[in-house]
Amino acid sequence: MPPRQQQWWCLCVLAGILFSIFLYSSHLSLQNRQVPPPLWTTLPPSNRRSATLSDGTITFYLKLSSYEAQFPNLQRHPCRPVIAEAGLCQRAGASPLLLLVVKSHPASSSRRAALRHTWARPREMGGYWLQPLFLVATTPNVRQLHLVQRESSSFRDVVLWDFVESHHNLSLKERCFLQWLCQHCRQAAFIFKGDDDVFVNPKALVGYLQRRPNASHFLHGNIQNHSKVMRYGKYSVSRALYPLDRYPCFASGGGFILPGPLVPALYQASLWLPVFPLDDVYLGFLVLAAGLSFTHDERFRVWGAPKDTREVYQESFMVHGLTPERMEEVWTELWSPHPGKEA
Ligand SMILES: *[C@@H]1O[C@H](CO)[C@@H](O)[C@H](O)[C@H]1NC(C)=O
Ligand SMILES: *[C@@H]1O[C@H](CO)[C@@H](O)[C@H](O)[C@H]1NC(C)=O
Ligand SMILES: *[C@@H]1O[C@H](CO)[C@@H](O)[C@H](O)[C@H]1NC(C)=O
Repeated sequence: MPPRQQQWWCLCVLAGILFSIFLYSSHLSLQNRQVPPPLWTTLPPSNRRSATLSDGTITFYLKLSSYEAQFPNLQRHPCRPVIAEAGLCQRAGASPLLLLVVKSHPASSSRRAALRHTWARPREMGGYWLQPLFLVATTPNVRQLHLVQRESSSFRDVVLWDFVESHHNLSLKERCFLQWLCQHCRQAAFIFKGDDDVFVNPKALVGYLQRRPNASHFLHGNIQNHSKVMRYGKYSVSRALYPLDRYPCFASGGGFILPGPLVPALYQASLWLPVFPLDDVYLGFLVLAAGLSFTHDERFRVWGAPKDTREVYQESFMVHGLTPERMEEVWTELWSPHPGKEA
């Protein structure tokens, strides 16, 4: 071959080889993409460890391997918001911020609507800026998710997480909420947290906080003092997971108050403690690990109103278990004499 042709020939062979390598490697990476790696490689390694905690009366032991075996997602799932609402707490202005936080299922649009008509409205009250926030996880139901997204763009009061909504995943909601607070809402003075079927009396709540100069030293709620572990039903846990018969003190999850300055300590504890599959008990363990304590008040009506009367709703901070219809009725009943002033 003449030298010029030889050069061309060499170039073609080289190009061919490079092209084959390219094809082969893209085939490999395609293959890799088609076979999803097993779950454990997608979850980050857990930095958690077993824990021995004592409250002076009982010593509690949480064995990490049991929690890893039964609830790996709770221990490892990274907190990824689909809607983060990162600027929510910057809207407060100068007044101390009281966040009104509601755990809500994506399917519960009508409950959220009733709350937004009644107590879950942004406004100033008694020297606090009240800001509602709904914590929602995801669902395979696309229609429900679209509704949540519509609400979010209208009201800008939704944080939506990427994990699937479920009873046990409420502990994941709790853990991720602590992280969200540390990242986006350091300025909150107090955080009320409750279910989406609770009535909240913001006036009584604010009054309670104003009357207690040391309110920010404690968590406040309906405190379950060493309650018995259930082995049957919705709130049961297995002996393999938790062999003890008693829980540490915890605030019943229907509604309680958490002071903002205590959040960093709880968040730090949430980074290493095994995640317990019942969210209010989980927070109880975090409180114990962080060396914090509770104040009990039965005006957190986590078991509903003792009597369904105006007086009860007037003196209570929150009442559990109202339908959306009853919520609006009670609200109107309470504030109707001075609708312009209070509602
Ligand atoms: C909790 O969320 C994870 C992540 O989305 C999901 O895999 C799991 O099925 C959910 N439910 C329960 C009961 O853990
Ligand atoms: C309130 O806090 C202050 C300062 O930490 C403390 O000296 C005081 O004893 C506390 N009062 C009550 C009633 O706990
Ligand atoms: C739990 O009960 C014990 C004994 O009755 C009491 O000393 C303690 O203060 C209670 N704890 C809470 C948080 O109510």
